[in-house]
Parts: sequence; C-alpha cells; structure tokens
Amino acid sequence: MMDGRDWAKFLLPYEQAVEELKVKFKTLRNELRSREEYSPIEFVTGRVKRISTILEKAKKLNVPMDQLEKGIEDIAGIRIMCQFVEDIEKLSELIRQREDMSIVYIKDYIANYKASGYRSFHIIIEYPVQTSLGMKRVLAEIQIRTLAMNFWATIEHSLNYKYKESLPDEISERLRRAAEAAFLLDKEMSNIREEIVESQRLFIDKSNLVSKVLSDIQQLYFYHRVREAAQFQLKFNELWESDELWNLSELSAEIEAAIARAKRESAKGQS
Ligand code: GTP
Ligand code: MG
Repeated sequence: MMDGRDWAKFLLPYEQAVEELKVKFKTLRNELRSREEYSPIEFVTGRVKRISTILEKAKKLNVPMDQLEKGIEDIAGIRIMCQFVEDIEKLSELIRQREDMSIVYIKDYIANYKASGYRSFHIIIEYPVQTSLGMKRVLAEIQIRTLAMNFWATIEHSLNYKYKESLPDEISERLRRAAEAAFLLDKEMSNIREEIVESQRLFIDKSNLVSKVLSDIQQLYFYHRVREAAQFQLKFNELWESDELWNLSELSAEIEAAIARAKRESAKGQS
C-alpha cells in the first residue's frame, strides 16, 4: 500500500498540525507576556520528520507501512524552550487544560534522564486538523526543555549524527558530564531566580511598612499628639539614616499603640 503512497499527501495533515501548533504556542507566549509580564515559554520551533527518517524509524520499530500514523508518534514535532526548569511544569499544566489537543501520554526524561544524559519533558498529543476532507486526528510530539537542555541536546545530536552513533566511549562519558553540568546550571539559575523573587518581596514589604509608618505619624498629628508624632518622626529618621529598617516593625507597633491611645482618649473627651 505504502509503495504507491503519495508522500506529499501523507504529510499534509502533519505539516498543517506543525504550523497550527507553532502559531498556538507562540500566541500563548505573547498572551502570557502581556498578561502576566512573564511567560514560561521562551521560544517555539517545529518540524515535520523527513521521509527517510520516518522509514528508518519504521524499520527500527517494526512498524508496518500501513500503520505509520499510529506507530510513529513524532512525525509532527514541536519543541518549546523555557528559561527555568519550573516553567516546564507550568507549561505542561497549561497543555493539560487545553481543549484543542489531548494528551496521549508523557515521557518524563527529566526525572528519568536517559543514559546519554538527555533531559526533556515529552508530551505525545492527539491533535485534530480540519482538512478539506474533514477532520483528521494526528499524533504529535511536544518536547519541552530548558535552554540549557536544548543547548546540550542540539550539540549532542549533531555529534551523534556526524559520527553515526559510534561515538568513542570517552566522548560519550564527557557528554554525560556535560549534561550534568547543564543540569547544575539550570539548578543554579532557579536558585538565583528564587533569591531575586524573595528580595523583591522583602523590598515590597519594606516599602509598604515605610509608607504605613509615615501615614500613622500623620494620624498622630491629626489627634493633636504633636510631641509624640515628632518623637516618632525622629526615631524613624534615625532608623532610615542608619539603614536599620528591620527595626521598623517595632517602631510601627509603638506608633499603632500611640494611635490607639489617642483614639481612646479623644472618644472619652467627646462623651
Ligand atoms: P527516536 O529516538 O526519535 O527514534 O524515538 P523513540 O521512540 O526512541 O522516542 P524517544 O522518546 O527515545 O525520543 C524522542 C525524541 O527525543 C528524539 O527524536 C530526539 O529528538 C529526542 N531524544 C531522545 N533521546 C535523545 C538523546 O539521547 N539525545 C538527543 N540529542 N535527543 C534525544
Ligand atoms: Mg529514542
């Protein structure tokens, strides 16, 4: 059956799937960028497997020629690169929630990295394409990886390709160590990001506290506690100048107590 197959026609729905999926994930990236100022997607690529590679893989996996659609899952392939390892999980959750594609199964080569050192998160999906002949469901492979994982996989692939899977053991070992180094790089980048996020959080806390203290001091003036307010202002200035703002919460509590006292006394005065 396959001998007389029109390959161009066979590949059409896969080409359509790759084009559509690229647009969808690029759109998702832009949408998340403008909505949340950060996107777990850095960039997206896609390709349709070459005919010669499809035939090689069919032979290797013993897939009959009339079973290629089911037997070879990556004729349509999408690759999504992320900045951080944590992004991969976020992204796979977004894919899970989508209604225009369904997950067939997952290969987690991050938790279970390959002997070569290869790391990536693979999702095999079923994707319906609307063709002139009606709807056709095709399988596609989405590979999700960090920039470091992609850097490693790209170079390892080109070396393997060049040396036709007969890399000397010593080189394979060095590639495994390079994969480990890429993994550590990802880890370090995640740690650095966490620390940046944490210090941003501390900065926001601090500046919120500063504005609270200053407006509370204003409140004291409102209750005619001029001397107290001036004393607190002085204390604040001291802390500010000595950069000892971690004592600010203590000062803030003292001011709150003073305001409470002032409120009580002014209520008494009115009754
Ligand atoms: P193929 O490896 O494509 O024949 O398919 P498979 O059925 O063995 O699936 P697997 O999940 O092992 O690999 C799917 C895809 O992941 C491959 O086509 C590559 O793009 C990528 N991949 C898997 N292992 C490696 C590896 O050791 N190095 C590199 N660079 N890429 C890999
Ligand atoms: Mg393989």
